[in-house]
Amino acid sequence: MSAVTTSAAESGATEAKPKSPASSRVVIFDTTLRDGEQSPGASMNLEEKIKIALVLEEMGVDVIEAGFPIASPGDFEAVREVAKRVGKSTVCGLSRAARGDIDRCWEALQHAKRPRIHTFISTSPLHMKFKLQMSPEQVHQAVIDSVTHARNFCPDVEWSCEDGSRTEHDFLCRTVESAIKAGARTINIPDTVGYAVPEEFAALIRMLFDRVPNIDKAVVSVHCHNDLGLAVANSLAAVAAGARQIECTINGLGERAGNAAMEEIVMALKTRADRMPFATGVKTEHITRASRLVSAITGFVVQPNKAIVGANAFAHESGIHQDGMLKHAGTYEIMTPESVGLGKSTLVMGKHSGRHAFKMKLKELGFDFGDNAINDAFRRFKDLADRKKEIFDEDIIALVDDEIQHADERIKFVSLQVIAGSKGPQSAELELEIDGRLQSAKTTGNGPVDATFNAIQAIVPHSAKLLLFQVSAVTAGTDAQAEVTVRLEEGGKTVIGQGADPDTLVASARAYIHALNKLLTKRAKTAPTAMSA
Ligand code: KIV
Ligand code: ZN
Repeated sequence: MSAVTTSAAESGATEAKPKSPASSRVVIFDTTLRDGEQSPGASMNLEEKIKIALVLEEMGVDVIEAGFPIASPGDFEAVREVAKRVGKSTVCGLSRAARGDIDRCWEALQHAKRPRIHTFISTSPLHMKFKLQMSPEQVHQAVIDSVTHARNFCPDVEWSCEDGSRTEHDFLCRTVESAIKAGARTINIPDTVGYAVPEEFAALIRMLFDRVPNIDKAVVSVHCHNDLGLAVANSLAAVAAGARQIECTINGLGERAGNAAMEEIVMALKTRADRMPFATGVKTEHITRASRLVSAITGFVVQPNKAIVGANAFAHESGIHQDGMLKHAGTYEIMTPESVGLGKSTLVMGKHSGRHAFKMKLKELGFDFGDNAINDAFRRFKDLADRKKEIFDEDIIALVDDEIQHADERIKFVSLQVIAGSKGPQSAELELEIDGRLQSAKTTGNGPVDATFNAIQAIVPHSAKLLLFQVSAVTAGTDAQAEVTVRLEEGGKTVIGQGADPDTLVASARAYIHALNKLLTKRAKTAPTAMSA
């Protein structure tokens, strides 16, 4: 099957100079909460989505796509709450080319300070014939109707041609022209299946500038998937060809192999401004925090050698490199760790640090909460300081993230005693507080983790299946805090739980309990009477 059906030459692109935009400002459109959430297993709850949206706003993202309101009541609620809470960034909701979708999308967005309706329909021969079972004429009419309907609600309307990179050029030009005529201010060209290569994708964008008469009335956007690992390269090539909006996600989260990674796009534009003189509004020092937050919430661990945000992205292992770095950082570093918000791992505090110093540290790390939350976090910090000699920024971040995640839970961790080792049987004695009542169990298992999880099962009988159990260390050293992620599945619903503690088993229990609490919330939303712990 030939995927990109016509080349620029075949489609009649002329040698005339394209009507490229005068502005060099590239709009950053983040779709972590929508396309990112479409990664299997990456579902986020309302509080988590709000938390991410606020971080994105703070970092200067222009547009936040908060969800697909018609898809589920949860998506609707998330878009509505993000729309209410975010003021500086535009908040966008996705909808298909159907009146009901668009109405629901507007219902969710109506309180936003800067709302955007994003409506889409497939335009490639393959999608129109097999997925939509619509003729090109019907699709063309749906484009006009959907954009016109969306414009009744809101002046900021974006239109996307799904599978745009495999759409016939004549039809693509026709639909783009009609969408702009109907009132779309942004025209998004997705490489939905990640099939394009940079030169070809840039030629497609140039072809639109050459052939669509009203193209200067809209911002051209691109939305690239990473199936061939080319999402960022394709996005940057499109910008060089005239696109001025890039759709992307934190850590490249997204369907299948993911979307273009925001941190890579933004840092490539910043670092190679000599070759790509385009600016974004993203404050790059917020990148590391956003990456860690998205990873912690979704349970999608960032690979160590991932560009910009991987644990090794700024690490220099070989002697030759270390020697070069000592002589001049530029020898092996093309951007500074500080420019992406990766401060030197500072030794922050110890057990003699006071409450005030702790509060100031939280502020410096970007946490802003009331006295009660600070008291709880401070108690845990003191406990940690008693057990761990050196406490780094990363320790505080893990501890506070853990505290935030476990606030307001019905099932609370109280204590755990485990007997481990080669002689067996390994056993766990666990105390939990459920709706304020202390309950305990003592169980054995095939290893200490199994014994711990069996104890949870004994106190909170459930049928959830454990799909993932993952442990990582927050800092170096044998006394480092362990950060544990578990993924549970029950009746087709998956949830992620996290826990952090210097004791790996306590962190494991906390993570499992976190996930169970999320399942209880999900159960309560779908069947309130079935709520039992
Ligand atoms: O990949 C895609 O085509 C999309 C559209 C809905 C923009 O996500
Ligand atoms: Zn997509």
